[in-house]
Amino acid sequence: MADDRSDDTIGVGIIGAGNIGTAHTANLARSVSGSRVAAVFDVDADRAATVAGPVGARACSGDGGIDELLGTEGVDAVLIASPDAVHAEQVRSVLAAERPMLCEKPLAVTDHDARSIVDAEVGRGRRTIQVGFMRRFDPGYTALKRELGPDGIGEPLLVHQLHTNTRAPYGLFTEQTMTNMAIHELDIGRWLLDDEYESVLVLHGRPGPRTPEGEHDPILVILRSASGVLVQIEAFVNATFGYQVACRVAGADGQAAMGDGAFVTRSRSFNRGVDVPELWLGRFAESYRLQLQGWIDAIRTGAAPPGASAWDGYLATMVANRAIEAYHRGEEVAIEVPPRPALYDPID
Ligand SMILES: NC(=O)c1ccc[n+]([C@@H]2O[C@H](COP(=O)([O-])OP(=O)(O)OC[C@H]3O[C@@H](n4cnc5c(N)ncnc54)[C@H](O)[C@@H]3O)[C@@H](O)[C@H]2O)c1
Repeated sequence: MADDRSDDTIGVGIIGAGNIGTAHTANLARSVSGSRVAAVFDVDADRAATVAGPVGARACSGDGGIDELLGTEGVDAVLIASPDAVHAEQVRSVLAAERPMLCEKPLAVTDHDARSIVDAEVGRGRRTIQVGFMRRFDPGYTALKRELGPDGIGEPLLVHQLHTNTRAPYGLFTEQTMTNMAIHELDIGRWLLDDEYESVLVLHGRPGPRTPEGEHDPILVILRSASGVLVQIEAFVNATFGYQVACRVAGADGQAAMGDGAFVTRSRSFNRGVDVPELWLGRFAESYRLQLQGWIDAIRTGAAPPGASAWDGYLATMVANRAIEAYHRGEEVAIEVPPRPALYDPID
């Protein structure tokens, strides 16, 4: 692409200037080395200008906003941080423009969209898509993964994952709890265990007081992996008391647990406790930064994207959709994982 910049930084085009798009923009402009923000596109022109202005990027909006962003000189790579429902269509536009991209989770909402993205990438013969499952970069989860195996707690037998949100930023729809929220757990469980799921069951009890009529919150998603590990996910969207993510793995020779990260315990007025973050940005600040640094480094060196691939994104969406089926049917649903295309073979 035409570019007369003298430096070798990667110019990123941001799509979606909301909560996470704003955080990614600040990281890429200030905390990640080798990157800069070249353009920001949001359907809301004010949001695009507010986020682009301080980092000296071009603000794009309106119907042709994505084309304007992709046509902006110096947009070498694209980060998609728009609402879930438009990811698939925007990934296809970025693929057509032949730019590497990081797409926020989920890669797509439907199995068909997610699979068609995988097929398009396979057709191009090169991996250029990374999915924003940033927990794979989290120091807590990476330390937990190191505990699984003969030098740690032995063969994993059971995983319990807990995820609470303080509110429902995109509305509370139980189906969305799977495709938007629990999808993080679905991905990290596969990654921790190096295993696939073979069945899923979803249980719900009495809805909490802030749950809209006809929806359920909290829920339990219970999966069985191909090697027989039980994975239980507790997802509570409107928990209100604070944002919390925790994971405990019971193994053949011990147990390993990951909690709130490195928060300080404070004792005061005859009480001992830790602060609980209000949102994911506090708990996972370092993970977002490490994810972006890894993504940018790979683009600069021509390496494959280091995080979750389009294949991982597809499987997470597919499993979330089987969970939705299990929720509606009230019974365990089988998960059929298709053969993995060679493009996604692990690189050792
Ligand atoms: N990885 C994580 O931990 C994490 C955390 C939060 C959000 N997310 C994901 O990031 C995405 C954005 O979430 P958010 O919380 O920032 O949402 P948000 O509602 O705060 O922001 C979305 C932004 O996208 C804009 N937008 C809407 N339609 C658009 C379109 N067609 N093209 C371009 N911009 C459009 C909106 O005007 C808004 O500014 C979601 O897919 C969400 O699942 C991931």
